[in-house]
Formats: sequence, structure tokens, C-alpha cells
Amino acid sequence: MHDSQAPAAISPVNNSDALDDFGVAESPSGVMRAAEPADDVDSDDADAETEGALALEAAPLPESPEPQLLPDCMHGVIGLSESLVEVYRVIDRVADTTCTILVTGESGTGKELVARAVHRASPRAPKAFVAVNCGAIPEALLESELFGHARGAFTGAHANKVGRIAMAEGGTLFLDEIGEMPMSLQVKLLRVLQAREYSPVGDNRTLKADVRIVAATNVNLENAVQAGTFREDLYYRLNVIHLTVPALRERPEDVPLLMQHFLKKAKEKVGRTKIGGVSRAAAQILADYQWPGNVRELENTIERAVLLCQGDLIEPKDLPQRLCGLGVEKRMSPRLPDAGLDLRNAVESFENQLIRQALERTKWNKKQAATLLGLNRTTLVEMLKRKRINPRAA
Ligand SMILES: Nc1ncnc2c1ncn2[C@@H]1O[C@H](COP(=O)(O)OP(=O)(O)OP(=O)(O)O)[C@@H](O)[C@H]1O
Ligand SMILES: [Mg+2]
Repeated sequence: MHDSQAPAAISPVNNSDALDDFGVAESPSGVMRAAEPADDVDSDDADAETEGALALEAAPLPESPEPQLLPDCMHGVIGLSESLVEVYRVIDRVADTTCTILVTGESGTGKELVARAVHRASPRAPKAFVAVNCGAIPEALLESELFGHARGAFTGAHANKVGRIAMAEGGTLFLDEIGEMPMSLQVKLLRVLQAREYSPVGDNRTLKADVRIVAATNVNLENAVQAGTFREDLYYRLNVIHLTVPALRERPEDVPLLMQHFLKKAKEKVGRTKIGGVSRAAAQILADYQWPGNVRELENTIERAVLLCQGDLIEPKDLPQRLCGLGVEKRMSPRLPDAGLDLRNAVESFENQLIRQALERTKWNKKQAATLLGLNRTTLVEMLKRKRINPRAA
């Protein structure tokens, strides 16, 4: 049902691989860009070491790096991490049924986008997708908003009103923040789910509801059931299929894809088409951050960076201070892969990445880069020679 980039065939990649794969800091020609060497670049170590440094970084040139070729992974939901791919798989399996779906996840993870993907993947796609935010509509109005009302049903009901269930006829009704639904309405919603029927406010007729219901919440409904604020029978009716949208910090490998997607979107929105990409240093900061506000926070961060960016690449200075100012220990806590690793190689690669970031941030001024790294210049120069790091191999 989803696009031809069968996500199941794509295995998760680690952060730095993903940064490389999606053309971070590339020129339009697809060639990895290096900052221009500053005056203090030692000319003797540049030429001879290019080949070795390329091998050292092992940065595979991307096969399809152009942002315009970004995959629409599942009807507008971007991401190829295993946890999100599992969400796509379930959507795929149930899209052509009318079963009710409960979408849960932290704020800003993409619950509404997932609900829309369910609708777009289903045979109901030509009909309406109607969203109701149960938490944003006052209790007194929510009933008539959902079910509609008859003229004269209450003071101020001057005409018949068509409810959202009727608007979604043949399509999908998205009940956002379902945990906020008042108890008095929960029983009426249960009737819709069980018998597929309802009555508008002040109207004795029984109407049929041909809607697929997708509900979302970022509160724990089981706790709400325990606390007596959510009906247990409704919970089970809603929870036929449960989709959990993972937090962004649990799928850091999706950050580069999302970054490119939002960059393209923001450039078009703001009209800054000359911005060519995100520098490696900025991309690394974005990849390391823990994203408490999830995808929404990443989207806002990129849009802000596009507005602030004065050059043709987004640099660390275009990112909010809270991303850059994190303690090293917080941003860089490494994870031991299940299969283990080669410690010496891992430490070497970690060291190389930090050195390279310091050089890029200082436009290859070795004195300044050494200061950033707490080294003296001679030590850094020695390390660059030994490690065969030079600007042309960036
Ligand atoms: N996987 C994704 N791919 C592309 N855009 C995404 C993705 N996830 C979220 N977004 C974008 O992030 C923003 C927040 O997404 P959405 O409103 O779906 O989240 P939510 O979980 O419903 O948030 P809330 O809990 O606050 O209601 C939207 O602009 C959405 O387009
Ligand atoms: Mg939402």
C-alpha cells in the first residue's frame, strides 16, 4: 500500500552513516563540501594525504542524495527506523478494513500524521478525513459538534447542524486527545463503535454512522481507566489496533531524513532557495540532541535556522543555544550495539569526528580548533598527520 521504497527492506543505520547517506553538506554537484582551508592550513599535508583520509572517514558518497528524491515513506510520514517501519506494516495490514485504531505517543511525534496516513492508505481516501480535538472543544459544545443537533435543541440552536460524524460519512473520523472526552459522551461514542449508530442532540432519529474511527492520545488510557475517568469498555473498543508512534530520541536514525524533508519544506515556505544544505557540524548537533518536543521541535528548529541562515549552509550558529550548549556527556553518550563493537576503532572514530567538527567550526584554523579541543596546536597538527585528516577529504 505504501510507496515502492519497501521500508521493510531497509535496515536502521547509525547516525553518522545516515548523515552521510543523505548528503549532509553537499554541493549541488553531489560532491562532499569542505570548508575552504584557512591560511594556517599546512600545504604539505594536504595533497599527499587525500586518499588516506578518504579511506579513514569511509564516508560513502550517497547514491541518491538529492533532497528532492526523499522518499515519502508512508503517505507523508517520513522515517525509516525499524520502529516506524513497524507502524507502516500494521497500517498496511489494516488499511482496507474499518477497524478502529488507537494511536498513542508523546506530543509532537506525528500521531495526527499517522492517522492521516491510515486514511490515505485506505479505500476511504476519496472521502473526508474529519478531525475533532476532544480536548479543545468545551464539553457543552462537543456533543453537538460530534453528533449534530436539531433546530431548537437548546438555546441558540437556530438551525439544524450537521455533526462531524455525518461530515466524515464514508471517510475517517479522527478523535484527537480522546482521553479528554467527557464521561457523558463516552457512552454515546461507545454506541457509535458498537452499533454504528447515533442520534443528533434534540433529535429522536437514529442515524447510521459509516465512519472509520482513529483516536489519538498522549495520556495513558489504562491509567485513566484505573482512575475512573475513562470507560473501560470504550477503551477496549478503541484499542482494537494500537499504533505506538515512537519518540524521536528512540529513532535518531530518522533525524537526517526528517532534517532534509523539513529543510526543503522551510526553504519553499520562506523563499530561501539558495540554502544548499546543513553543515556536517550542524547536522551532528541535530543528530545528537534528545528532542523532548519530538518531530515538531525538529521542524521548528529547521524553519528557524532557515530564517537565520546567512550563507548557503545551515551552521551551528543558526541553531538554538539549547541544542549546542548541552554538556558533552549528555550529547555524546555512546550506545553499545547489541552485537558489540571494536572499542579501538570506535574510540578512534569518535575522536576523528570531534576533531573534524572543531576544524569545520573554525574554518580549519588549527590554532582555534586546538583551543576548542583543549589541545595545543602542535599536538593537533601531529594528530592530523597521523590520522591523515585534511580539508580536501572532508
Ligand atoms: N514522521 C514525520 N514525518 C514528517 N513530518 C512529521 C512526522 N512526524 C511529525 N511530523 C510533523 O510534526 C508536526 C507534529 O506532528 P503531529 O501534529 O502529527 O504530532 P502529534 O503527535 O499529533 O502532536 P500532539 O501530541 O501535540 O497532538 C507536524 O507538522 C507534522 O507534519
Ligand atoms: Mg495531534
